[in-house]
Amino acid sequence: MTKLIPRITEQEIQARIAEMGRQIALDYKDKDLVIIGILKGSFVFLADLIRQIPIDHDVDFMGASSYEGQESTGQIVFTKQPDLSLKNRDVLLVEDIVDTGRTLMKITEFITLLNPRSLKLCALINKQERRQMHIDVSYSGFLLNDGFIVGYGLDYNEKYRNLPGIYDLKI
Ligand code: IMP
Ligand code: MG
Repeated sequence: MTKLIPRITEQEIQARIAEMGRQIALDYKDKDLVIIGILKGSFVFLADLIRQIPIDHDVDFMGASSYEGQESTGQIVFTKQPDLSLKNRDVLLVEDIVDTGRTLMKITEFITLLNPRSLKLCALINKQERRQMHIDVSYSGFLLNDGFIVGYGLDYNEKYRNLPGIYDLKI
């Protein structure tokens, strides 16, 4: 039987996002910020995060997919590229969760070719146990070591994105 065990509450998520938004607004106040959400998992986080960033910025999306079930297939497929020009702009990539780091590494390589002025990474969850790539996550919401989590945009085979909190999924 599938079990959902509470891990991070809606209130904890919102409080942390308010802090992250404040820090991002401070760091980018004199910059030309473009926030790029990585679809699909980041859309819930992104929607809350940008409303905590009270400075002008643009929003765009990139699509990347690698997971089936609880395992990464290792093949990262881009399903959408940004529409805006990123040349000489300050790009912040927003991810739901960093696990092996392969997705953000691939996307970072791709965005770098578009010649942004700066490029930094933001993730709601930083899961370090299975990290394979050295990536620097400048803004990280919560550090987790283990488990497969769902909710708040994170899915298991496309389900559970709608949960307001984050849960451990036990199958
Ligand atoms: P990475 O390429 O291994 O870093 O995987 C990153 C992507 O895998 C994330 O954007 C998620 O879509 C997915 N992912 C990794 N861990 C989890 C998890 O615990 N729950 C749900 N999705 C996950
Ligand atoms: Mg994702």
